[in-house]
Order: sequence, then structure tokens, then C-alpha cells
Amino acid sequence: MLSPNNTIFSIAYEFMVSRQRAIILIIKLLYMSVLLKLKKVNLKYKTGKDNISVLNNINLITKKKETVSIVGESGSGKTSLIMLVGGLERATSGKIFFQDQEITKLNEDQVSKIRKKSIGIIFQSFYLIPNYTAVENVALTLELNKLKNPESNAKELLDRFGLKHRLNNLPSQLSGGEQQRVAIARAIAMKPELILADEPTGNLDTENSIMISKILFNYVKEEGSSLIIVTHDSKLANKTDRKIKIIDGKIK
Ligand SMILES: Nc1ncnc2c1ncn2[C@@H]1O[C@H](COP(=O)(O)OP(=O)(O)OP(=O)(O)O)[C@@H](O)[C@H]1O
Ligand SMILES: [Mg+2]
Repeated sequence: MLSPNNTIFSIAYEFMVSRQRAIILIIKLLYMSVLLKLKKVNLKYKTGKDNISVLNNINLITKKKETVSIVGESGSGKTSLIMLVGGLERATSGKIFFQDQEITKLNEDQVSKIRKKSIGIIFQSFYLIPNYTAVENVALTLELNKLKNPESNAKELLDRFGLKHRLNNLPSQLSGGEQQRVAIARAIAMKPELILADEPTGNLDTENSIMISKILFNYVKEEGSSLIIVTHDSKLANKTDRKIKIIDGKIK
């Protein structure tokens, strides 16, 4: 038979165990929703004898489905940060985790695999292949990733971005806004978990900027992807869940 003391002890014990379980669950949930984590990241460039410190002690966590804008003056390190997160540049020191994987530990091939599958990058200059048509530019990404029906999937995506009538045009036969829409279609063709956009409207007029930002934010909302966007446009920055300012290579 249980004594009153034993009963109190077992109730207290049960309470402790269930509380511990709840805490573990909360930690797990918090941890699960983290998409990207930068820990004391530094980036230095060597030019001649000089070492230029471009990014200093960057700590950043972004969550799944979160949209984040990066603002800051020219030369503050915004593009460098995008390049690091996209695995196009290597950190001089510090750790970068993407989907729980430490990408700073991986070799170039391994990083490139993750990028192709999970990260879509959009630049200010569209970087389309000049002798490929709109549809070929998008289909190439799908082909390289061995996806079925690359051409019909590419057509579908371009159609979604209002380019049904421009499928067979070369980049030189497209307007700036149209070229950027092709570049966005290419970047998201693999349905990446994270989209990195470096001043995607920087080369566009107001009308096209508005259209591109609508396309981008609608897509992110519909597909539940995360977005990190570098922009000088405060209206665009205000559309994101969170704004980060970089001053002289440091997050403020
Ligand atoms: N490959 C490189 N070698 C040496 N220095 C570099 C290199 N790339 C960038 N930098 C320097 O790093 C600093 C940050 O450059 P970054 O391109 O990240 O700036 P940014 O914030 O994107 O500027 P902008 O708004 O003009 O695009 C600049 O001072 C730049 O000169
Ligand atoms: Mg830049």
C-alpha cells in the first residue's frame, strides 16, 4: 500500500517527467523550424598584401517559411552574405548550418548538390544564357537535375509568370522585367526551400519592380518557401517578416 509520502512523491515525479517531456518537445519544435543558422561568421578577402574584412562576426537564424530583407549601404556586405548562404563563397571562419547540415564542413560538390536542390538564387543582373530561349533557360535547370518533362514544366512555370507569349524568345528579345521573370522561374524551378534574391528589382522601372515583387511574394506564400531578399527599395523590404540592417559588415 502507498503511504501518503509515496503518493506525493509519485505525483511530483510524474509532474517532473511530463514537464521535462513538454520542454523537450518545445525545444524540438523550435529547432525544427530553423532553416538557416550562421554562427560567428567572418569573411575576409585578400587583395594583394591587404586582408579586407567584409563580414564580421555574423550571427543569424532564419526560420522555415520566413521572409527576411537585408538592407544596408553600398559596400556594406549584403551580396557577400547572400554568396555565403548560397554556398557560392566560403566563410573565412565561423559555421553555417542549412537544414541542420553544417555546410561550412562540406566540400564544393556537396554544397553544390544542396544548392541545386534546395536554394534558388536570383541576381540583379539576370544571367540568362543568351543563346537559349526563355523556355530553354528554365528547362536546363530541370534537365540538369534529371527531372522528367523539363520543357513542359518550364512552359507551365513561365505561363504562371505571364510569359506564355514569350516562351521562344531569346533573352535579347525580352524586356528587363520579362528577363527577370525568366530568371525567377529558373531559380524556383526545383521548388527550393530557400530563395535568395540580391536586388531583384535593381535594374527595373517602378512598374516592373512592382510586378516582380508581387510574383516573388505570391510564390513564396503559395509554396511556403523562405525568402532572403537584398533590396534598396523600402516598400519591398517592408513586405518581409523581418528586416536586417548591415553596417560595415556587421548586423545591427
Ligand atoms: N572578390 C572580392 N575581392 C575583394 N573585395 C571584395 C570582393 N567582393 C566584394 N568585395 C568588397 O567587399 C565589400 C562588400 O561587398 P558587397 O558586394 O557584399 O557589398 P553590397 O552591400 O552588396 O554593396 P551594393 O549595395 O553596392 O551591391 C566591398 O567593399 C567590396 O569592395
Ligand atoms: Mg550587392
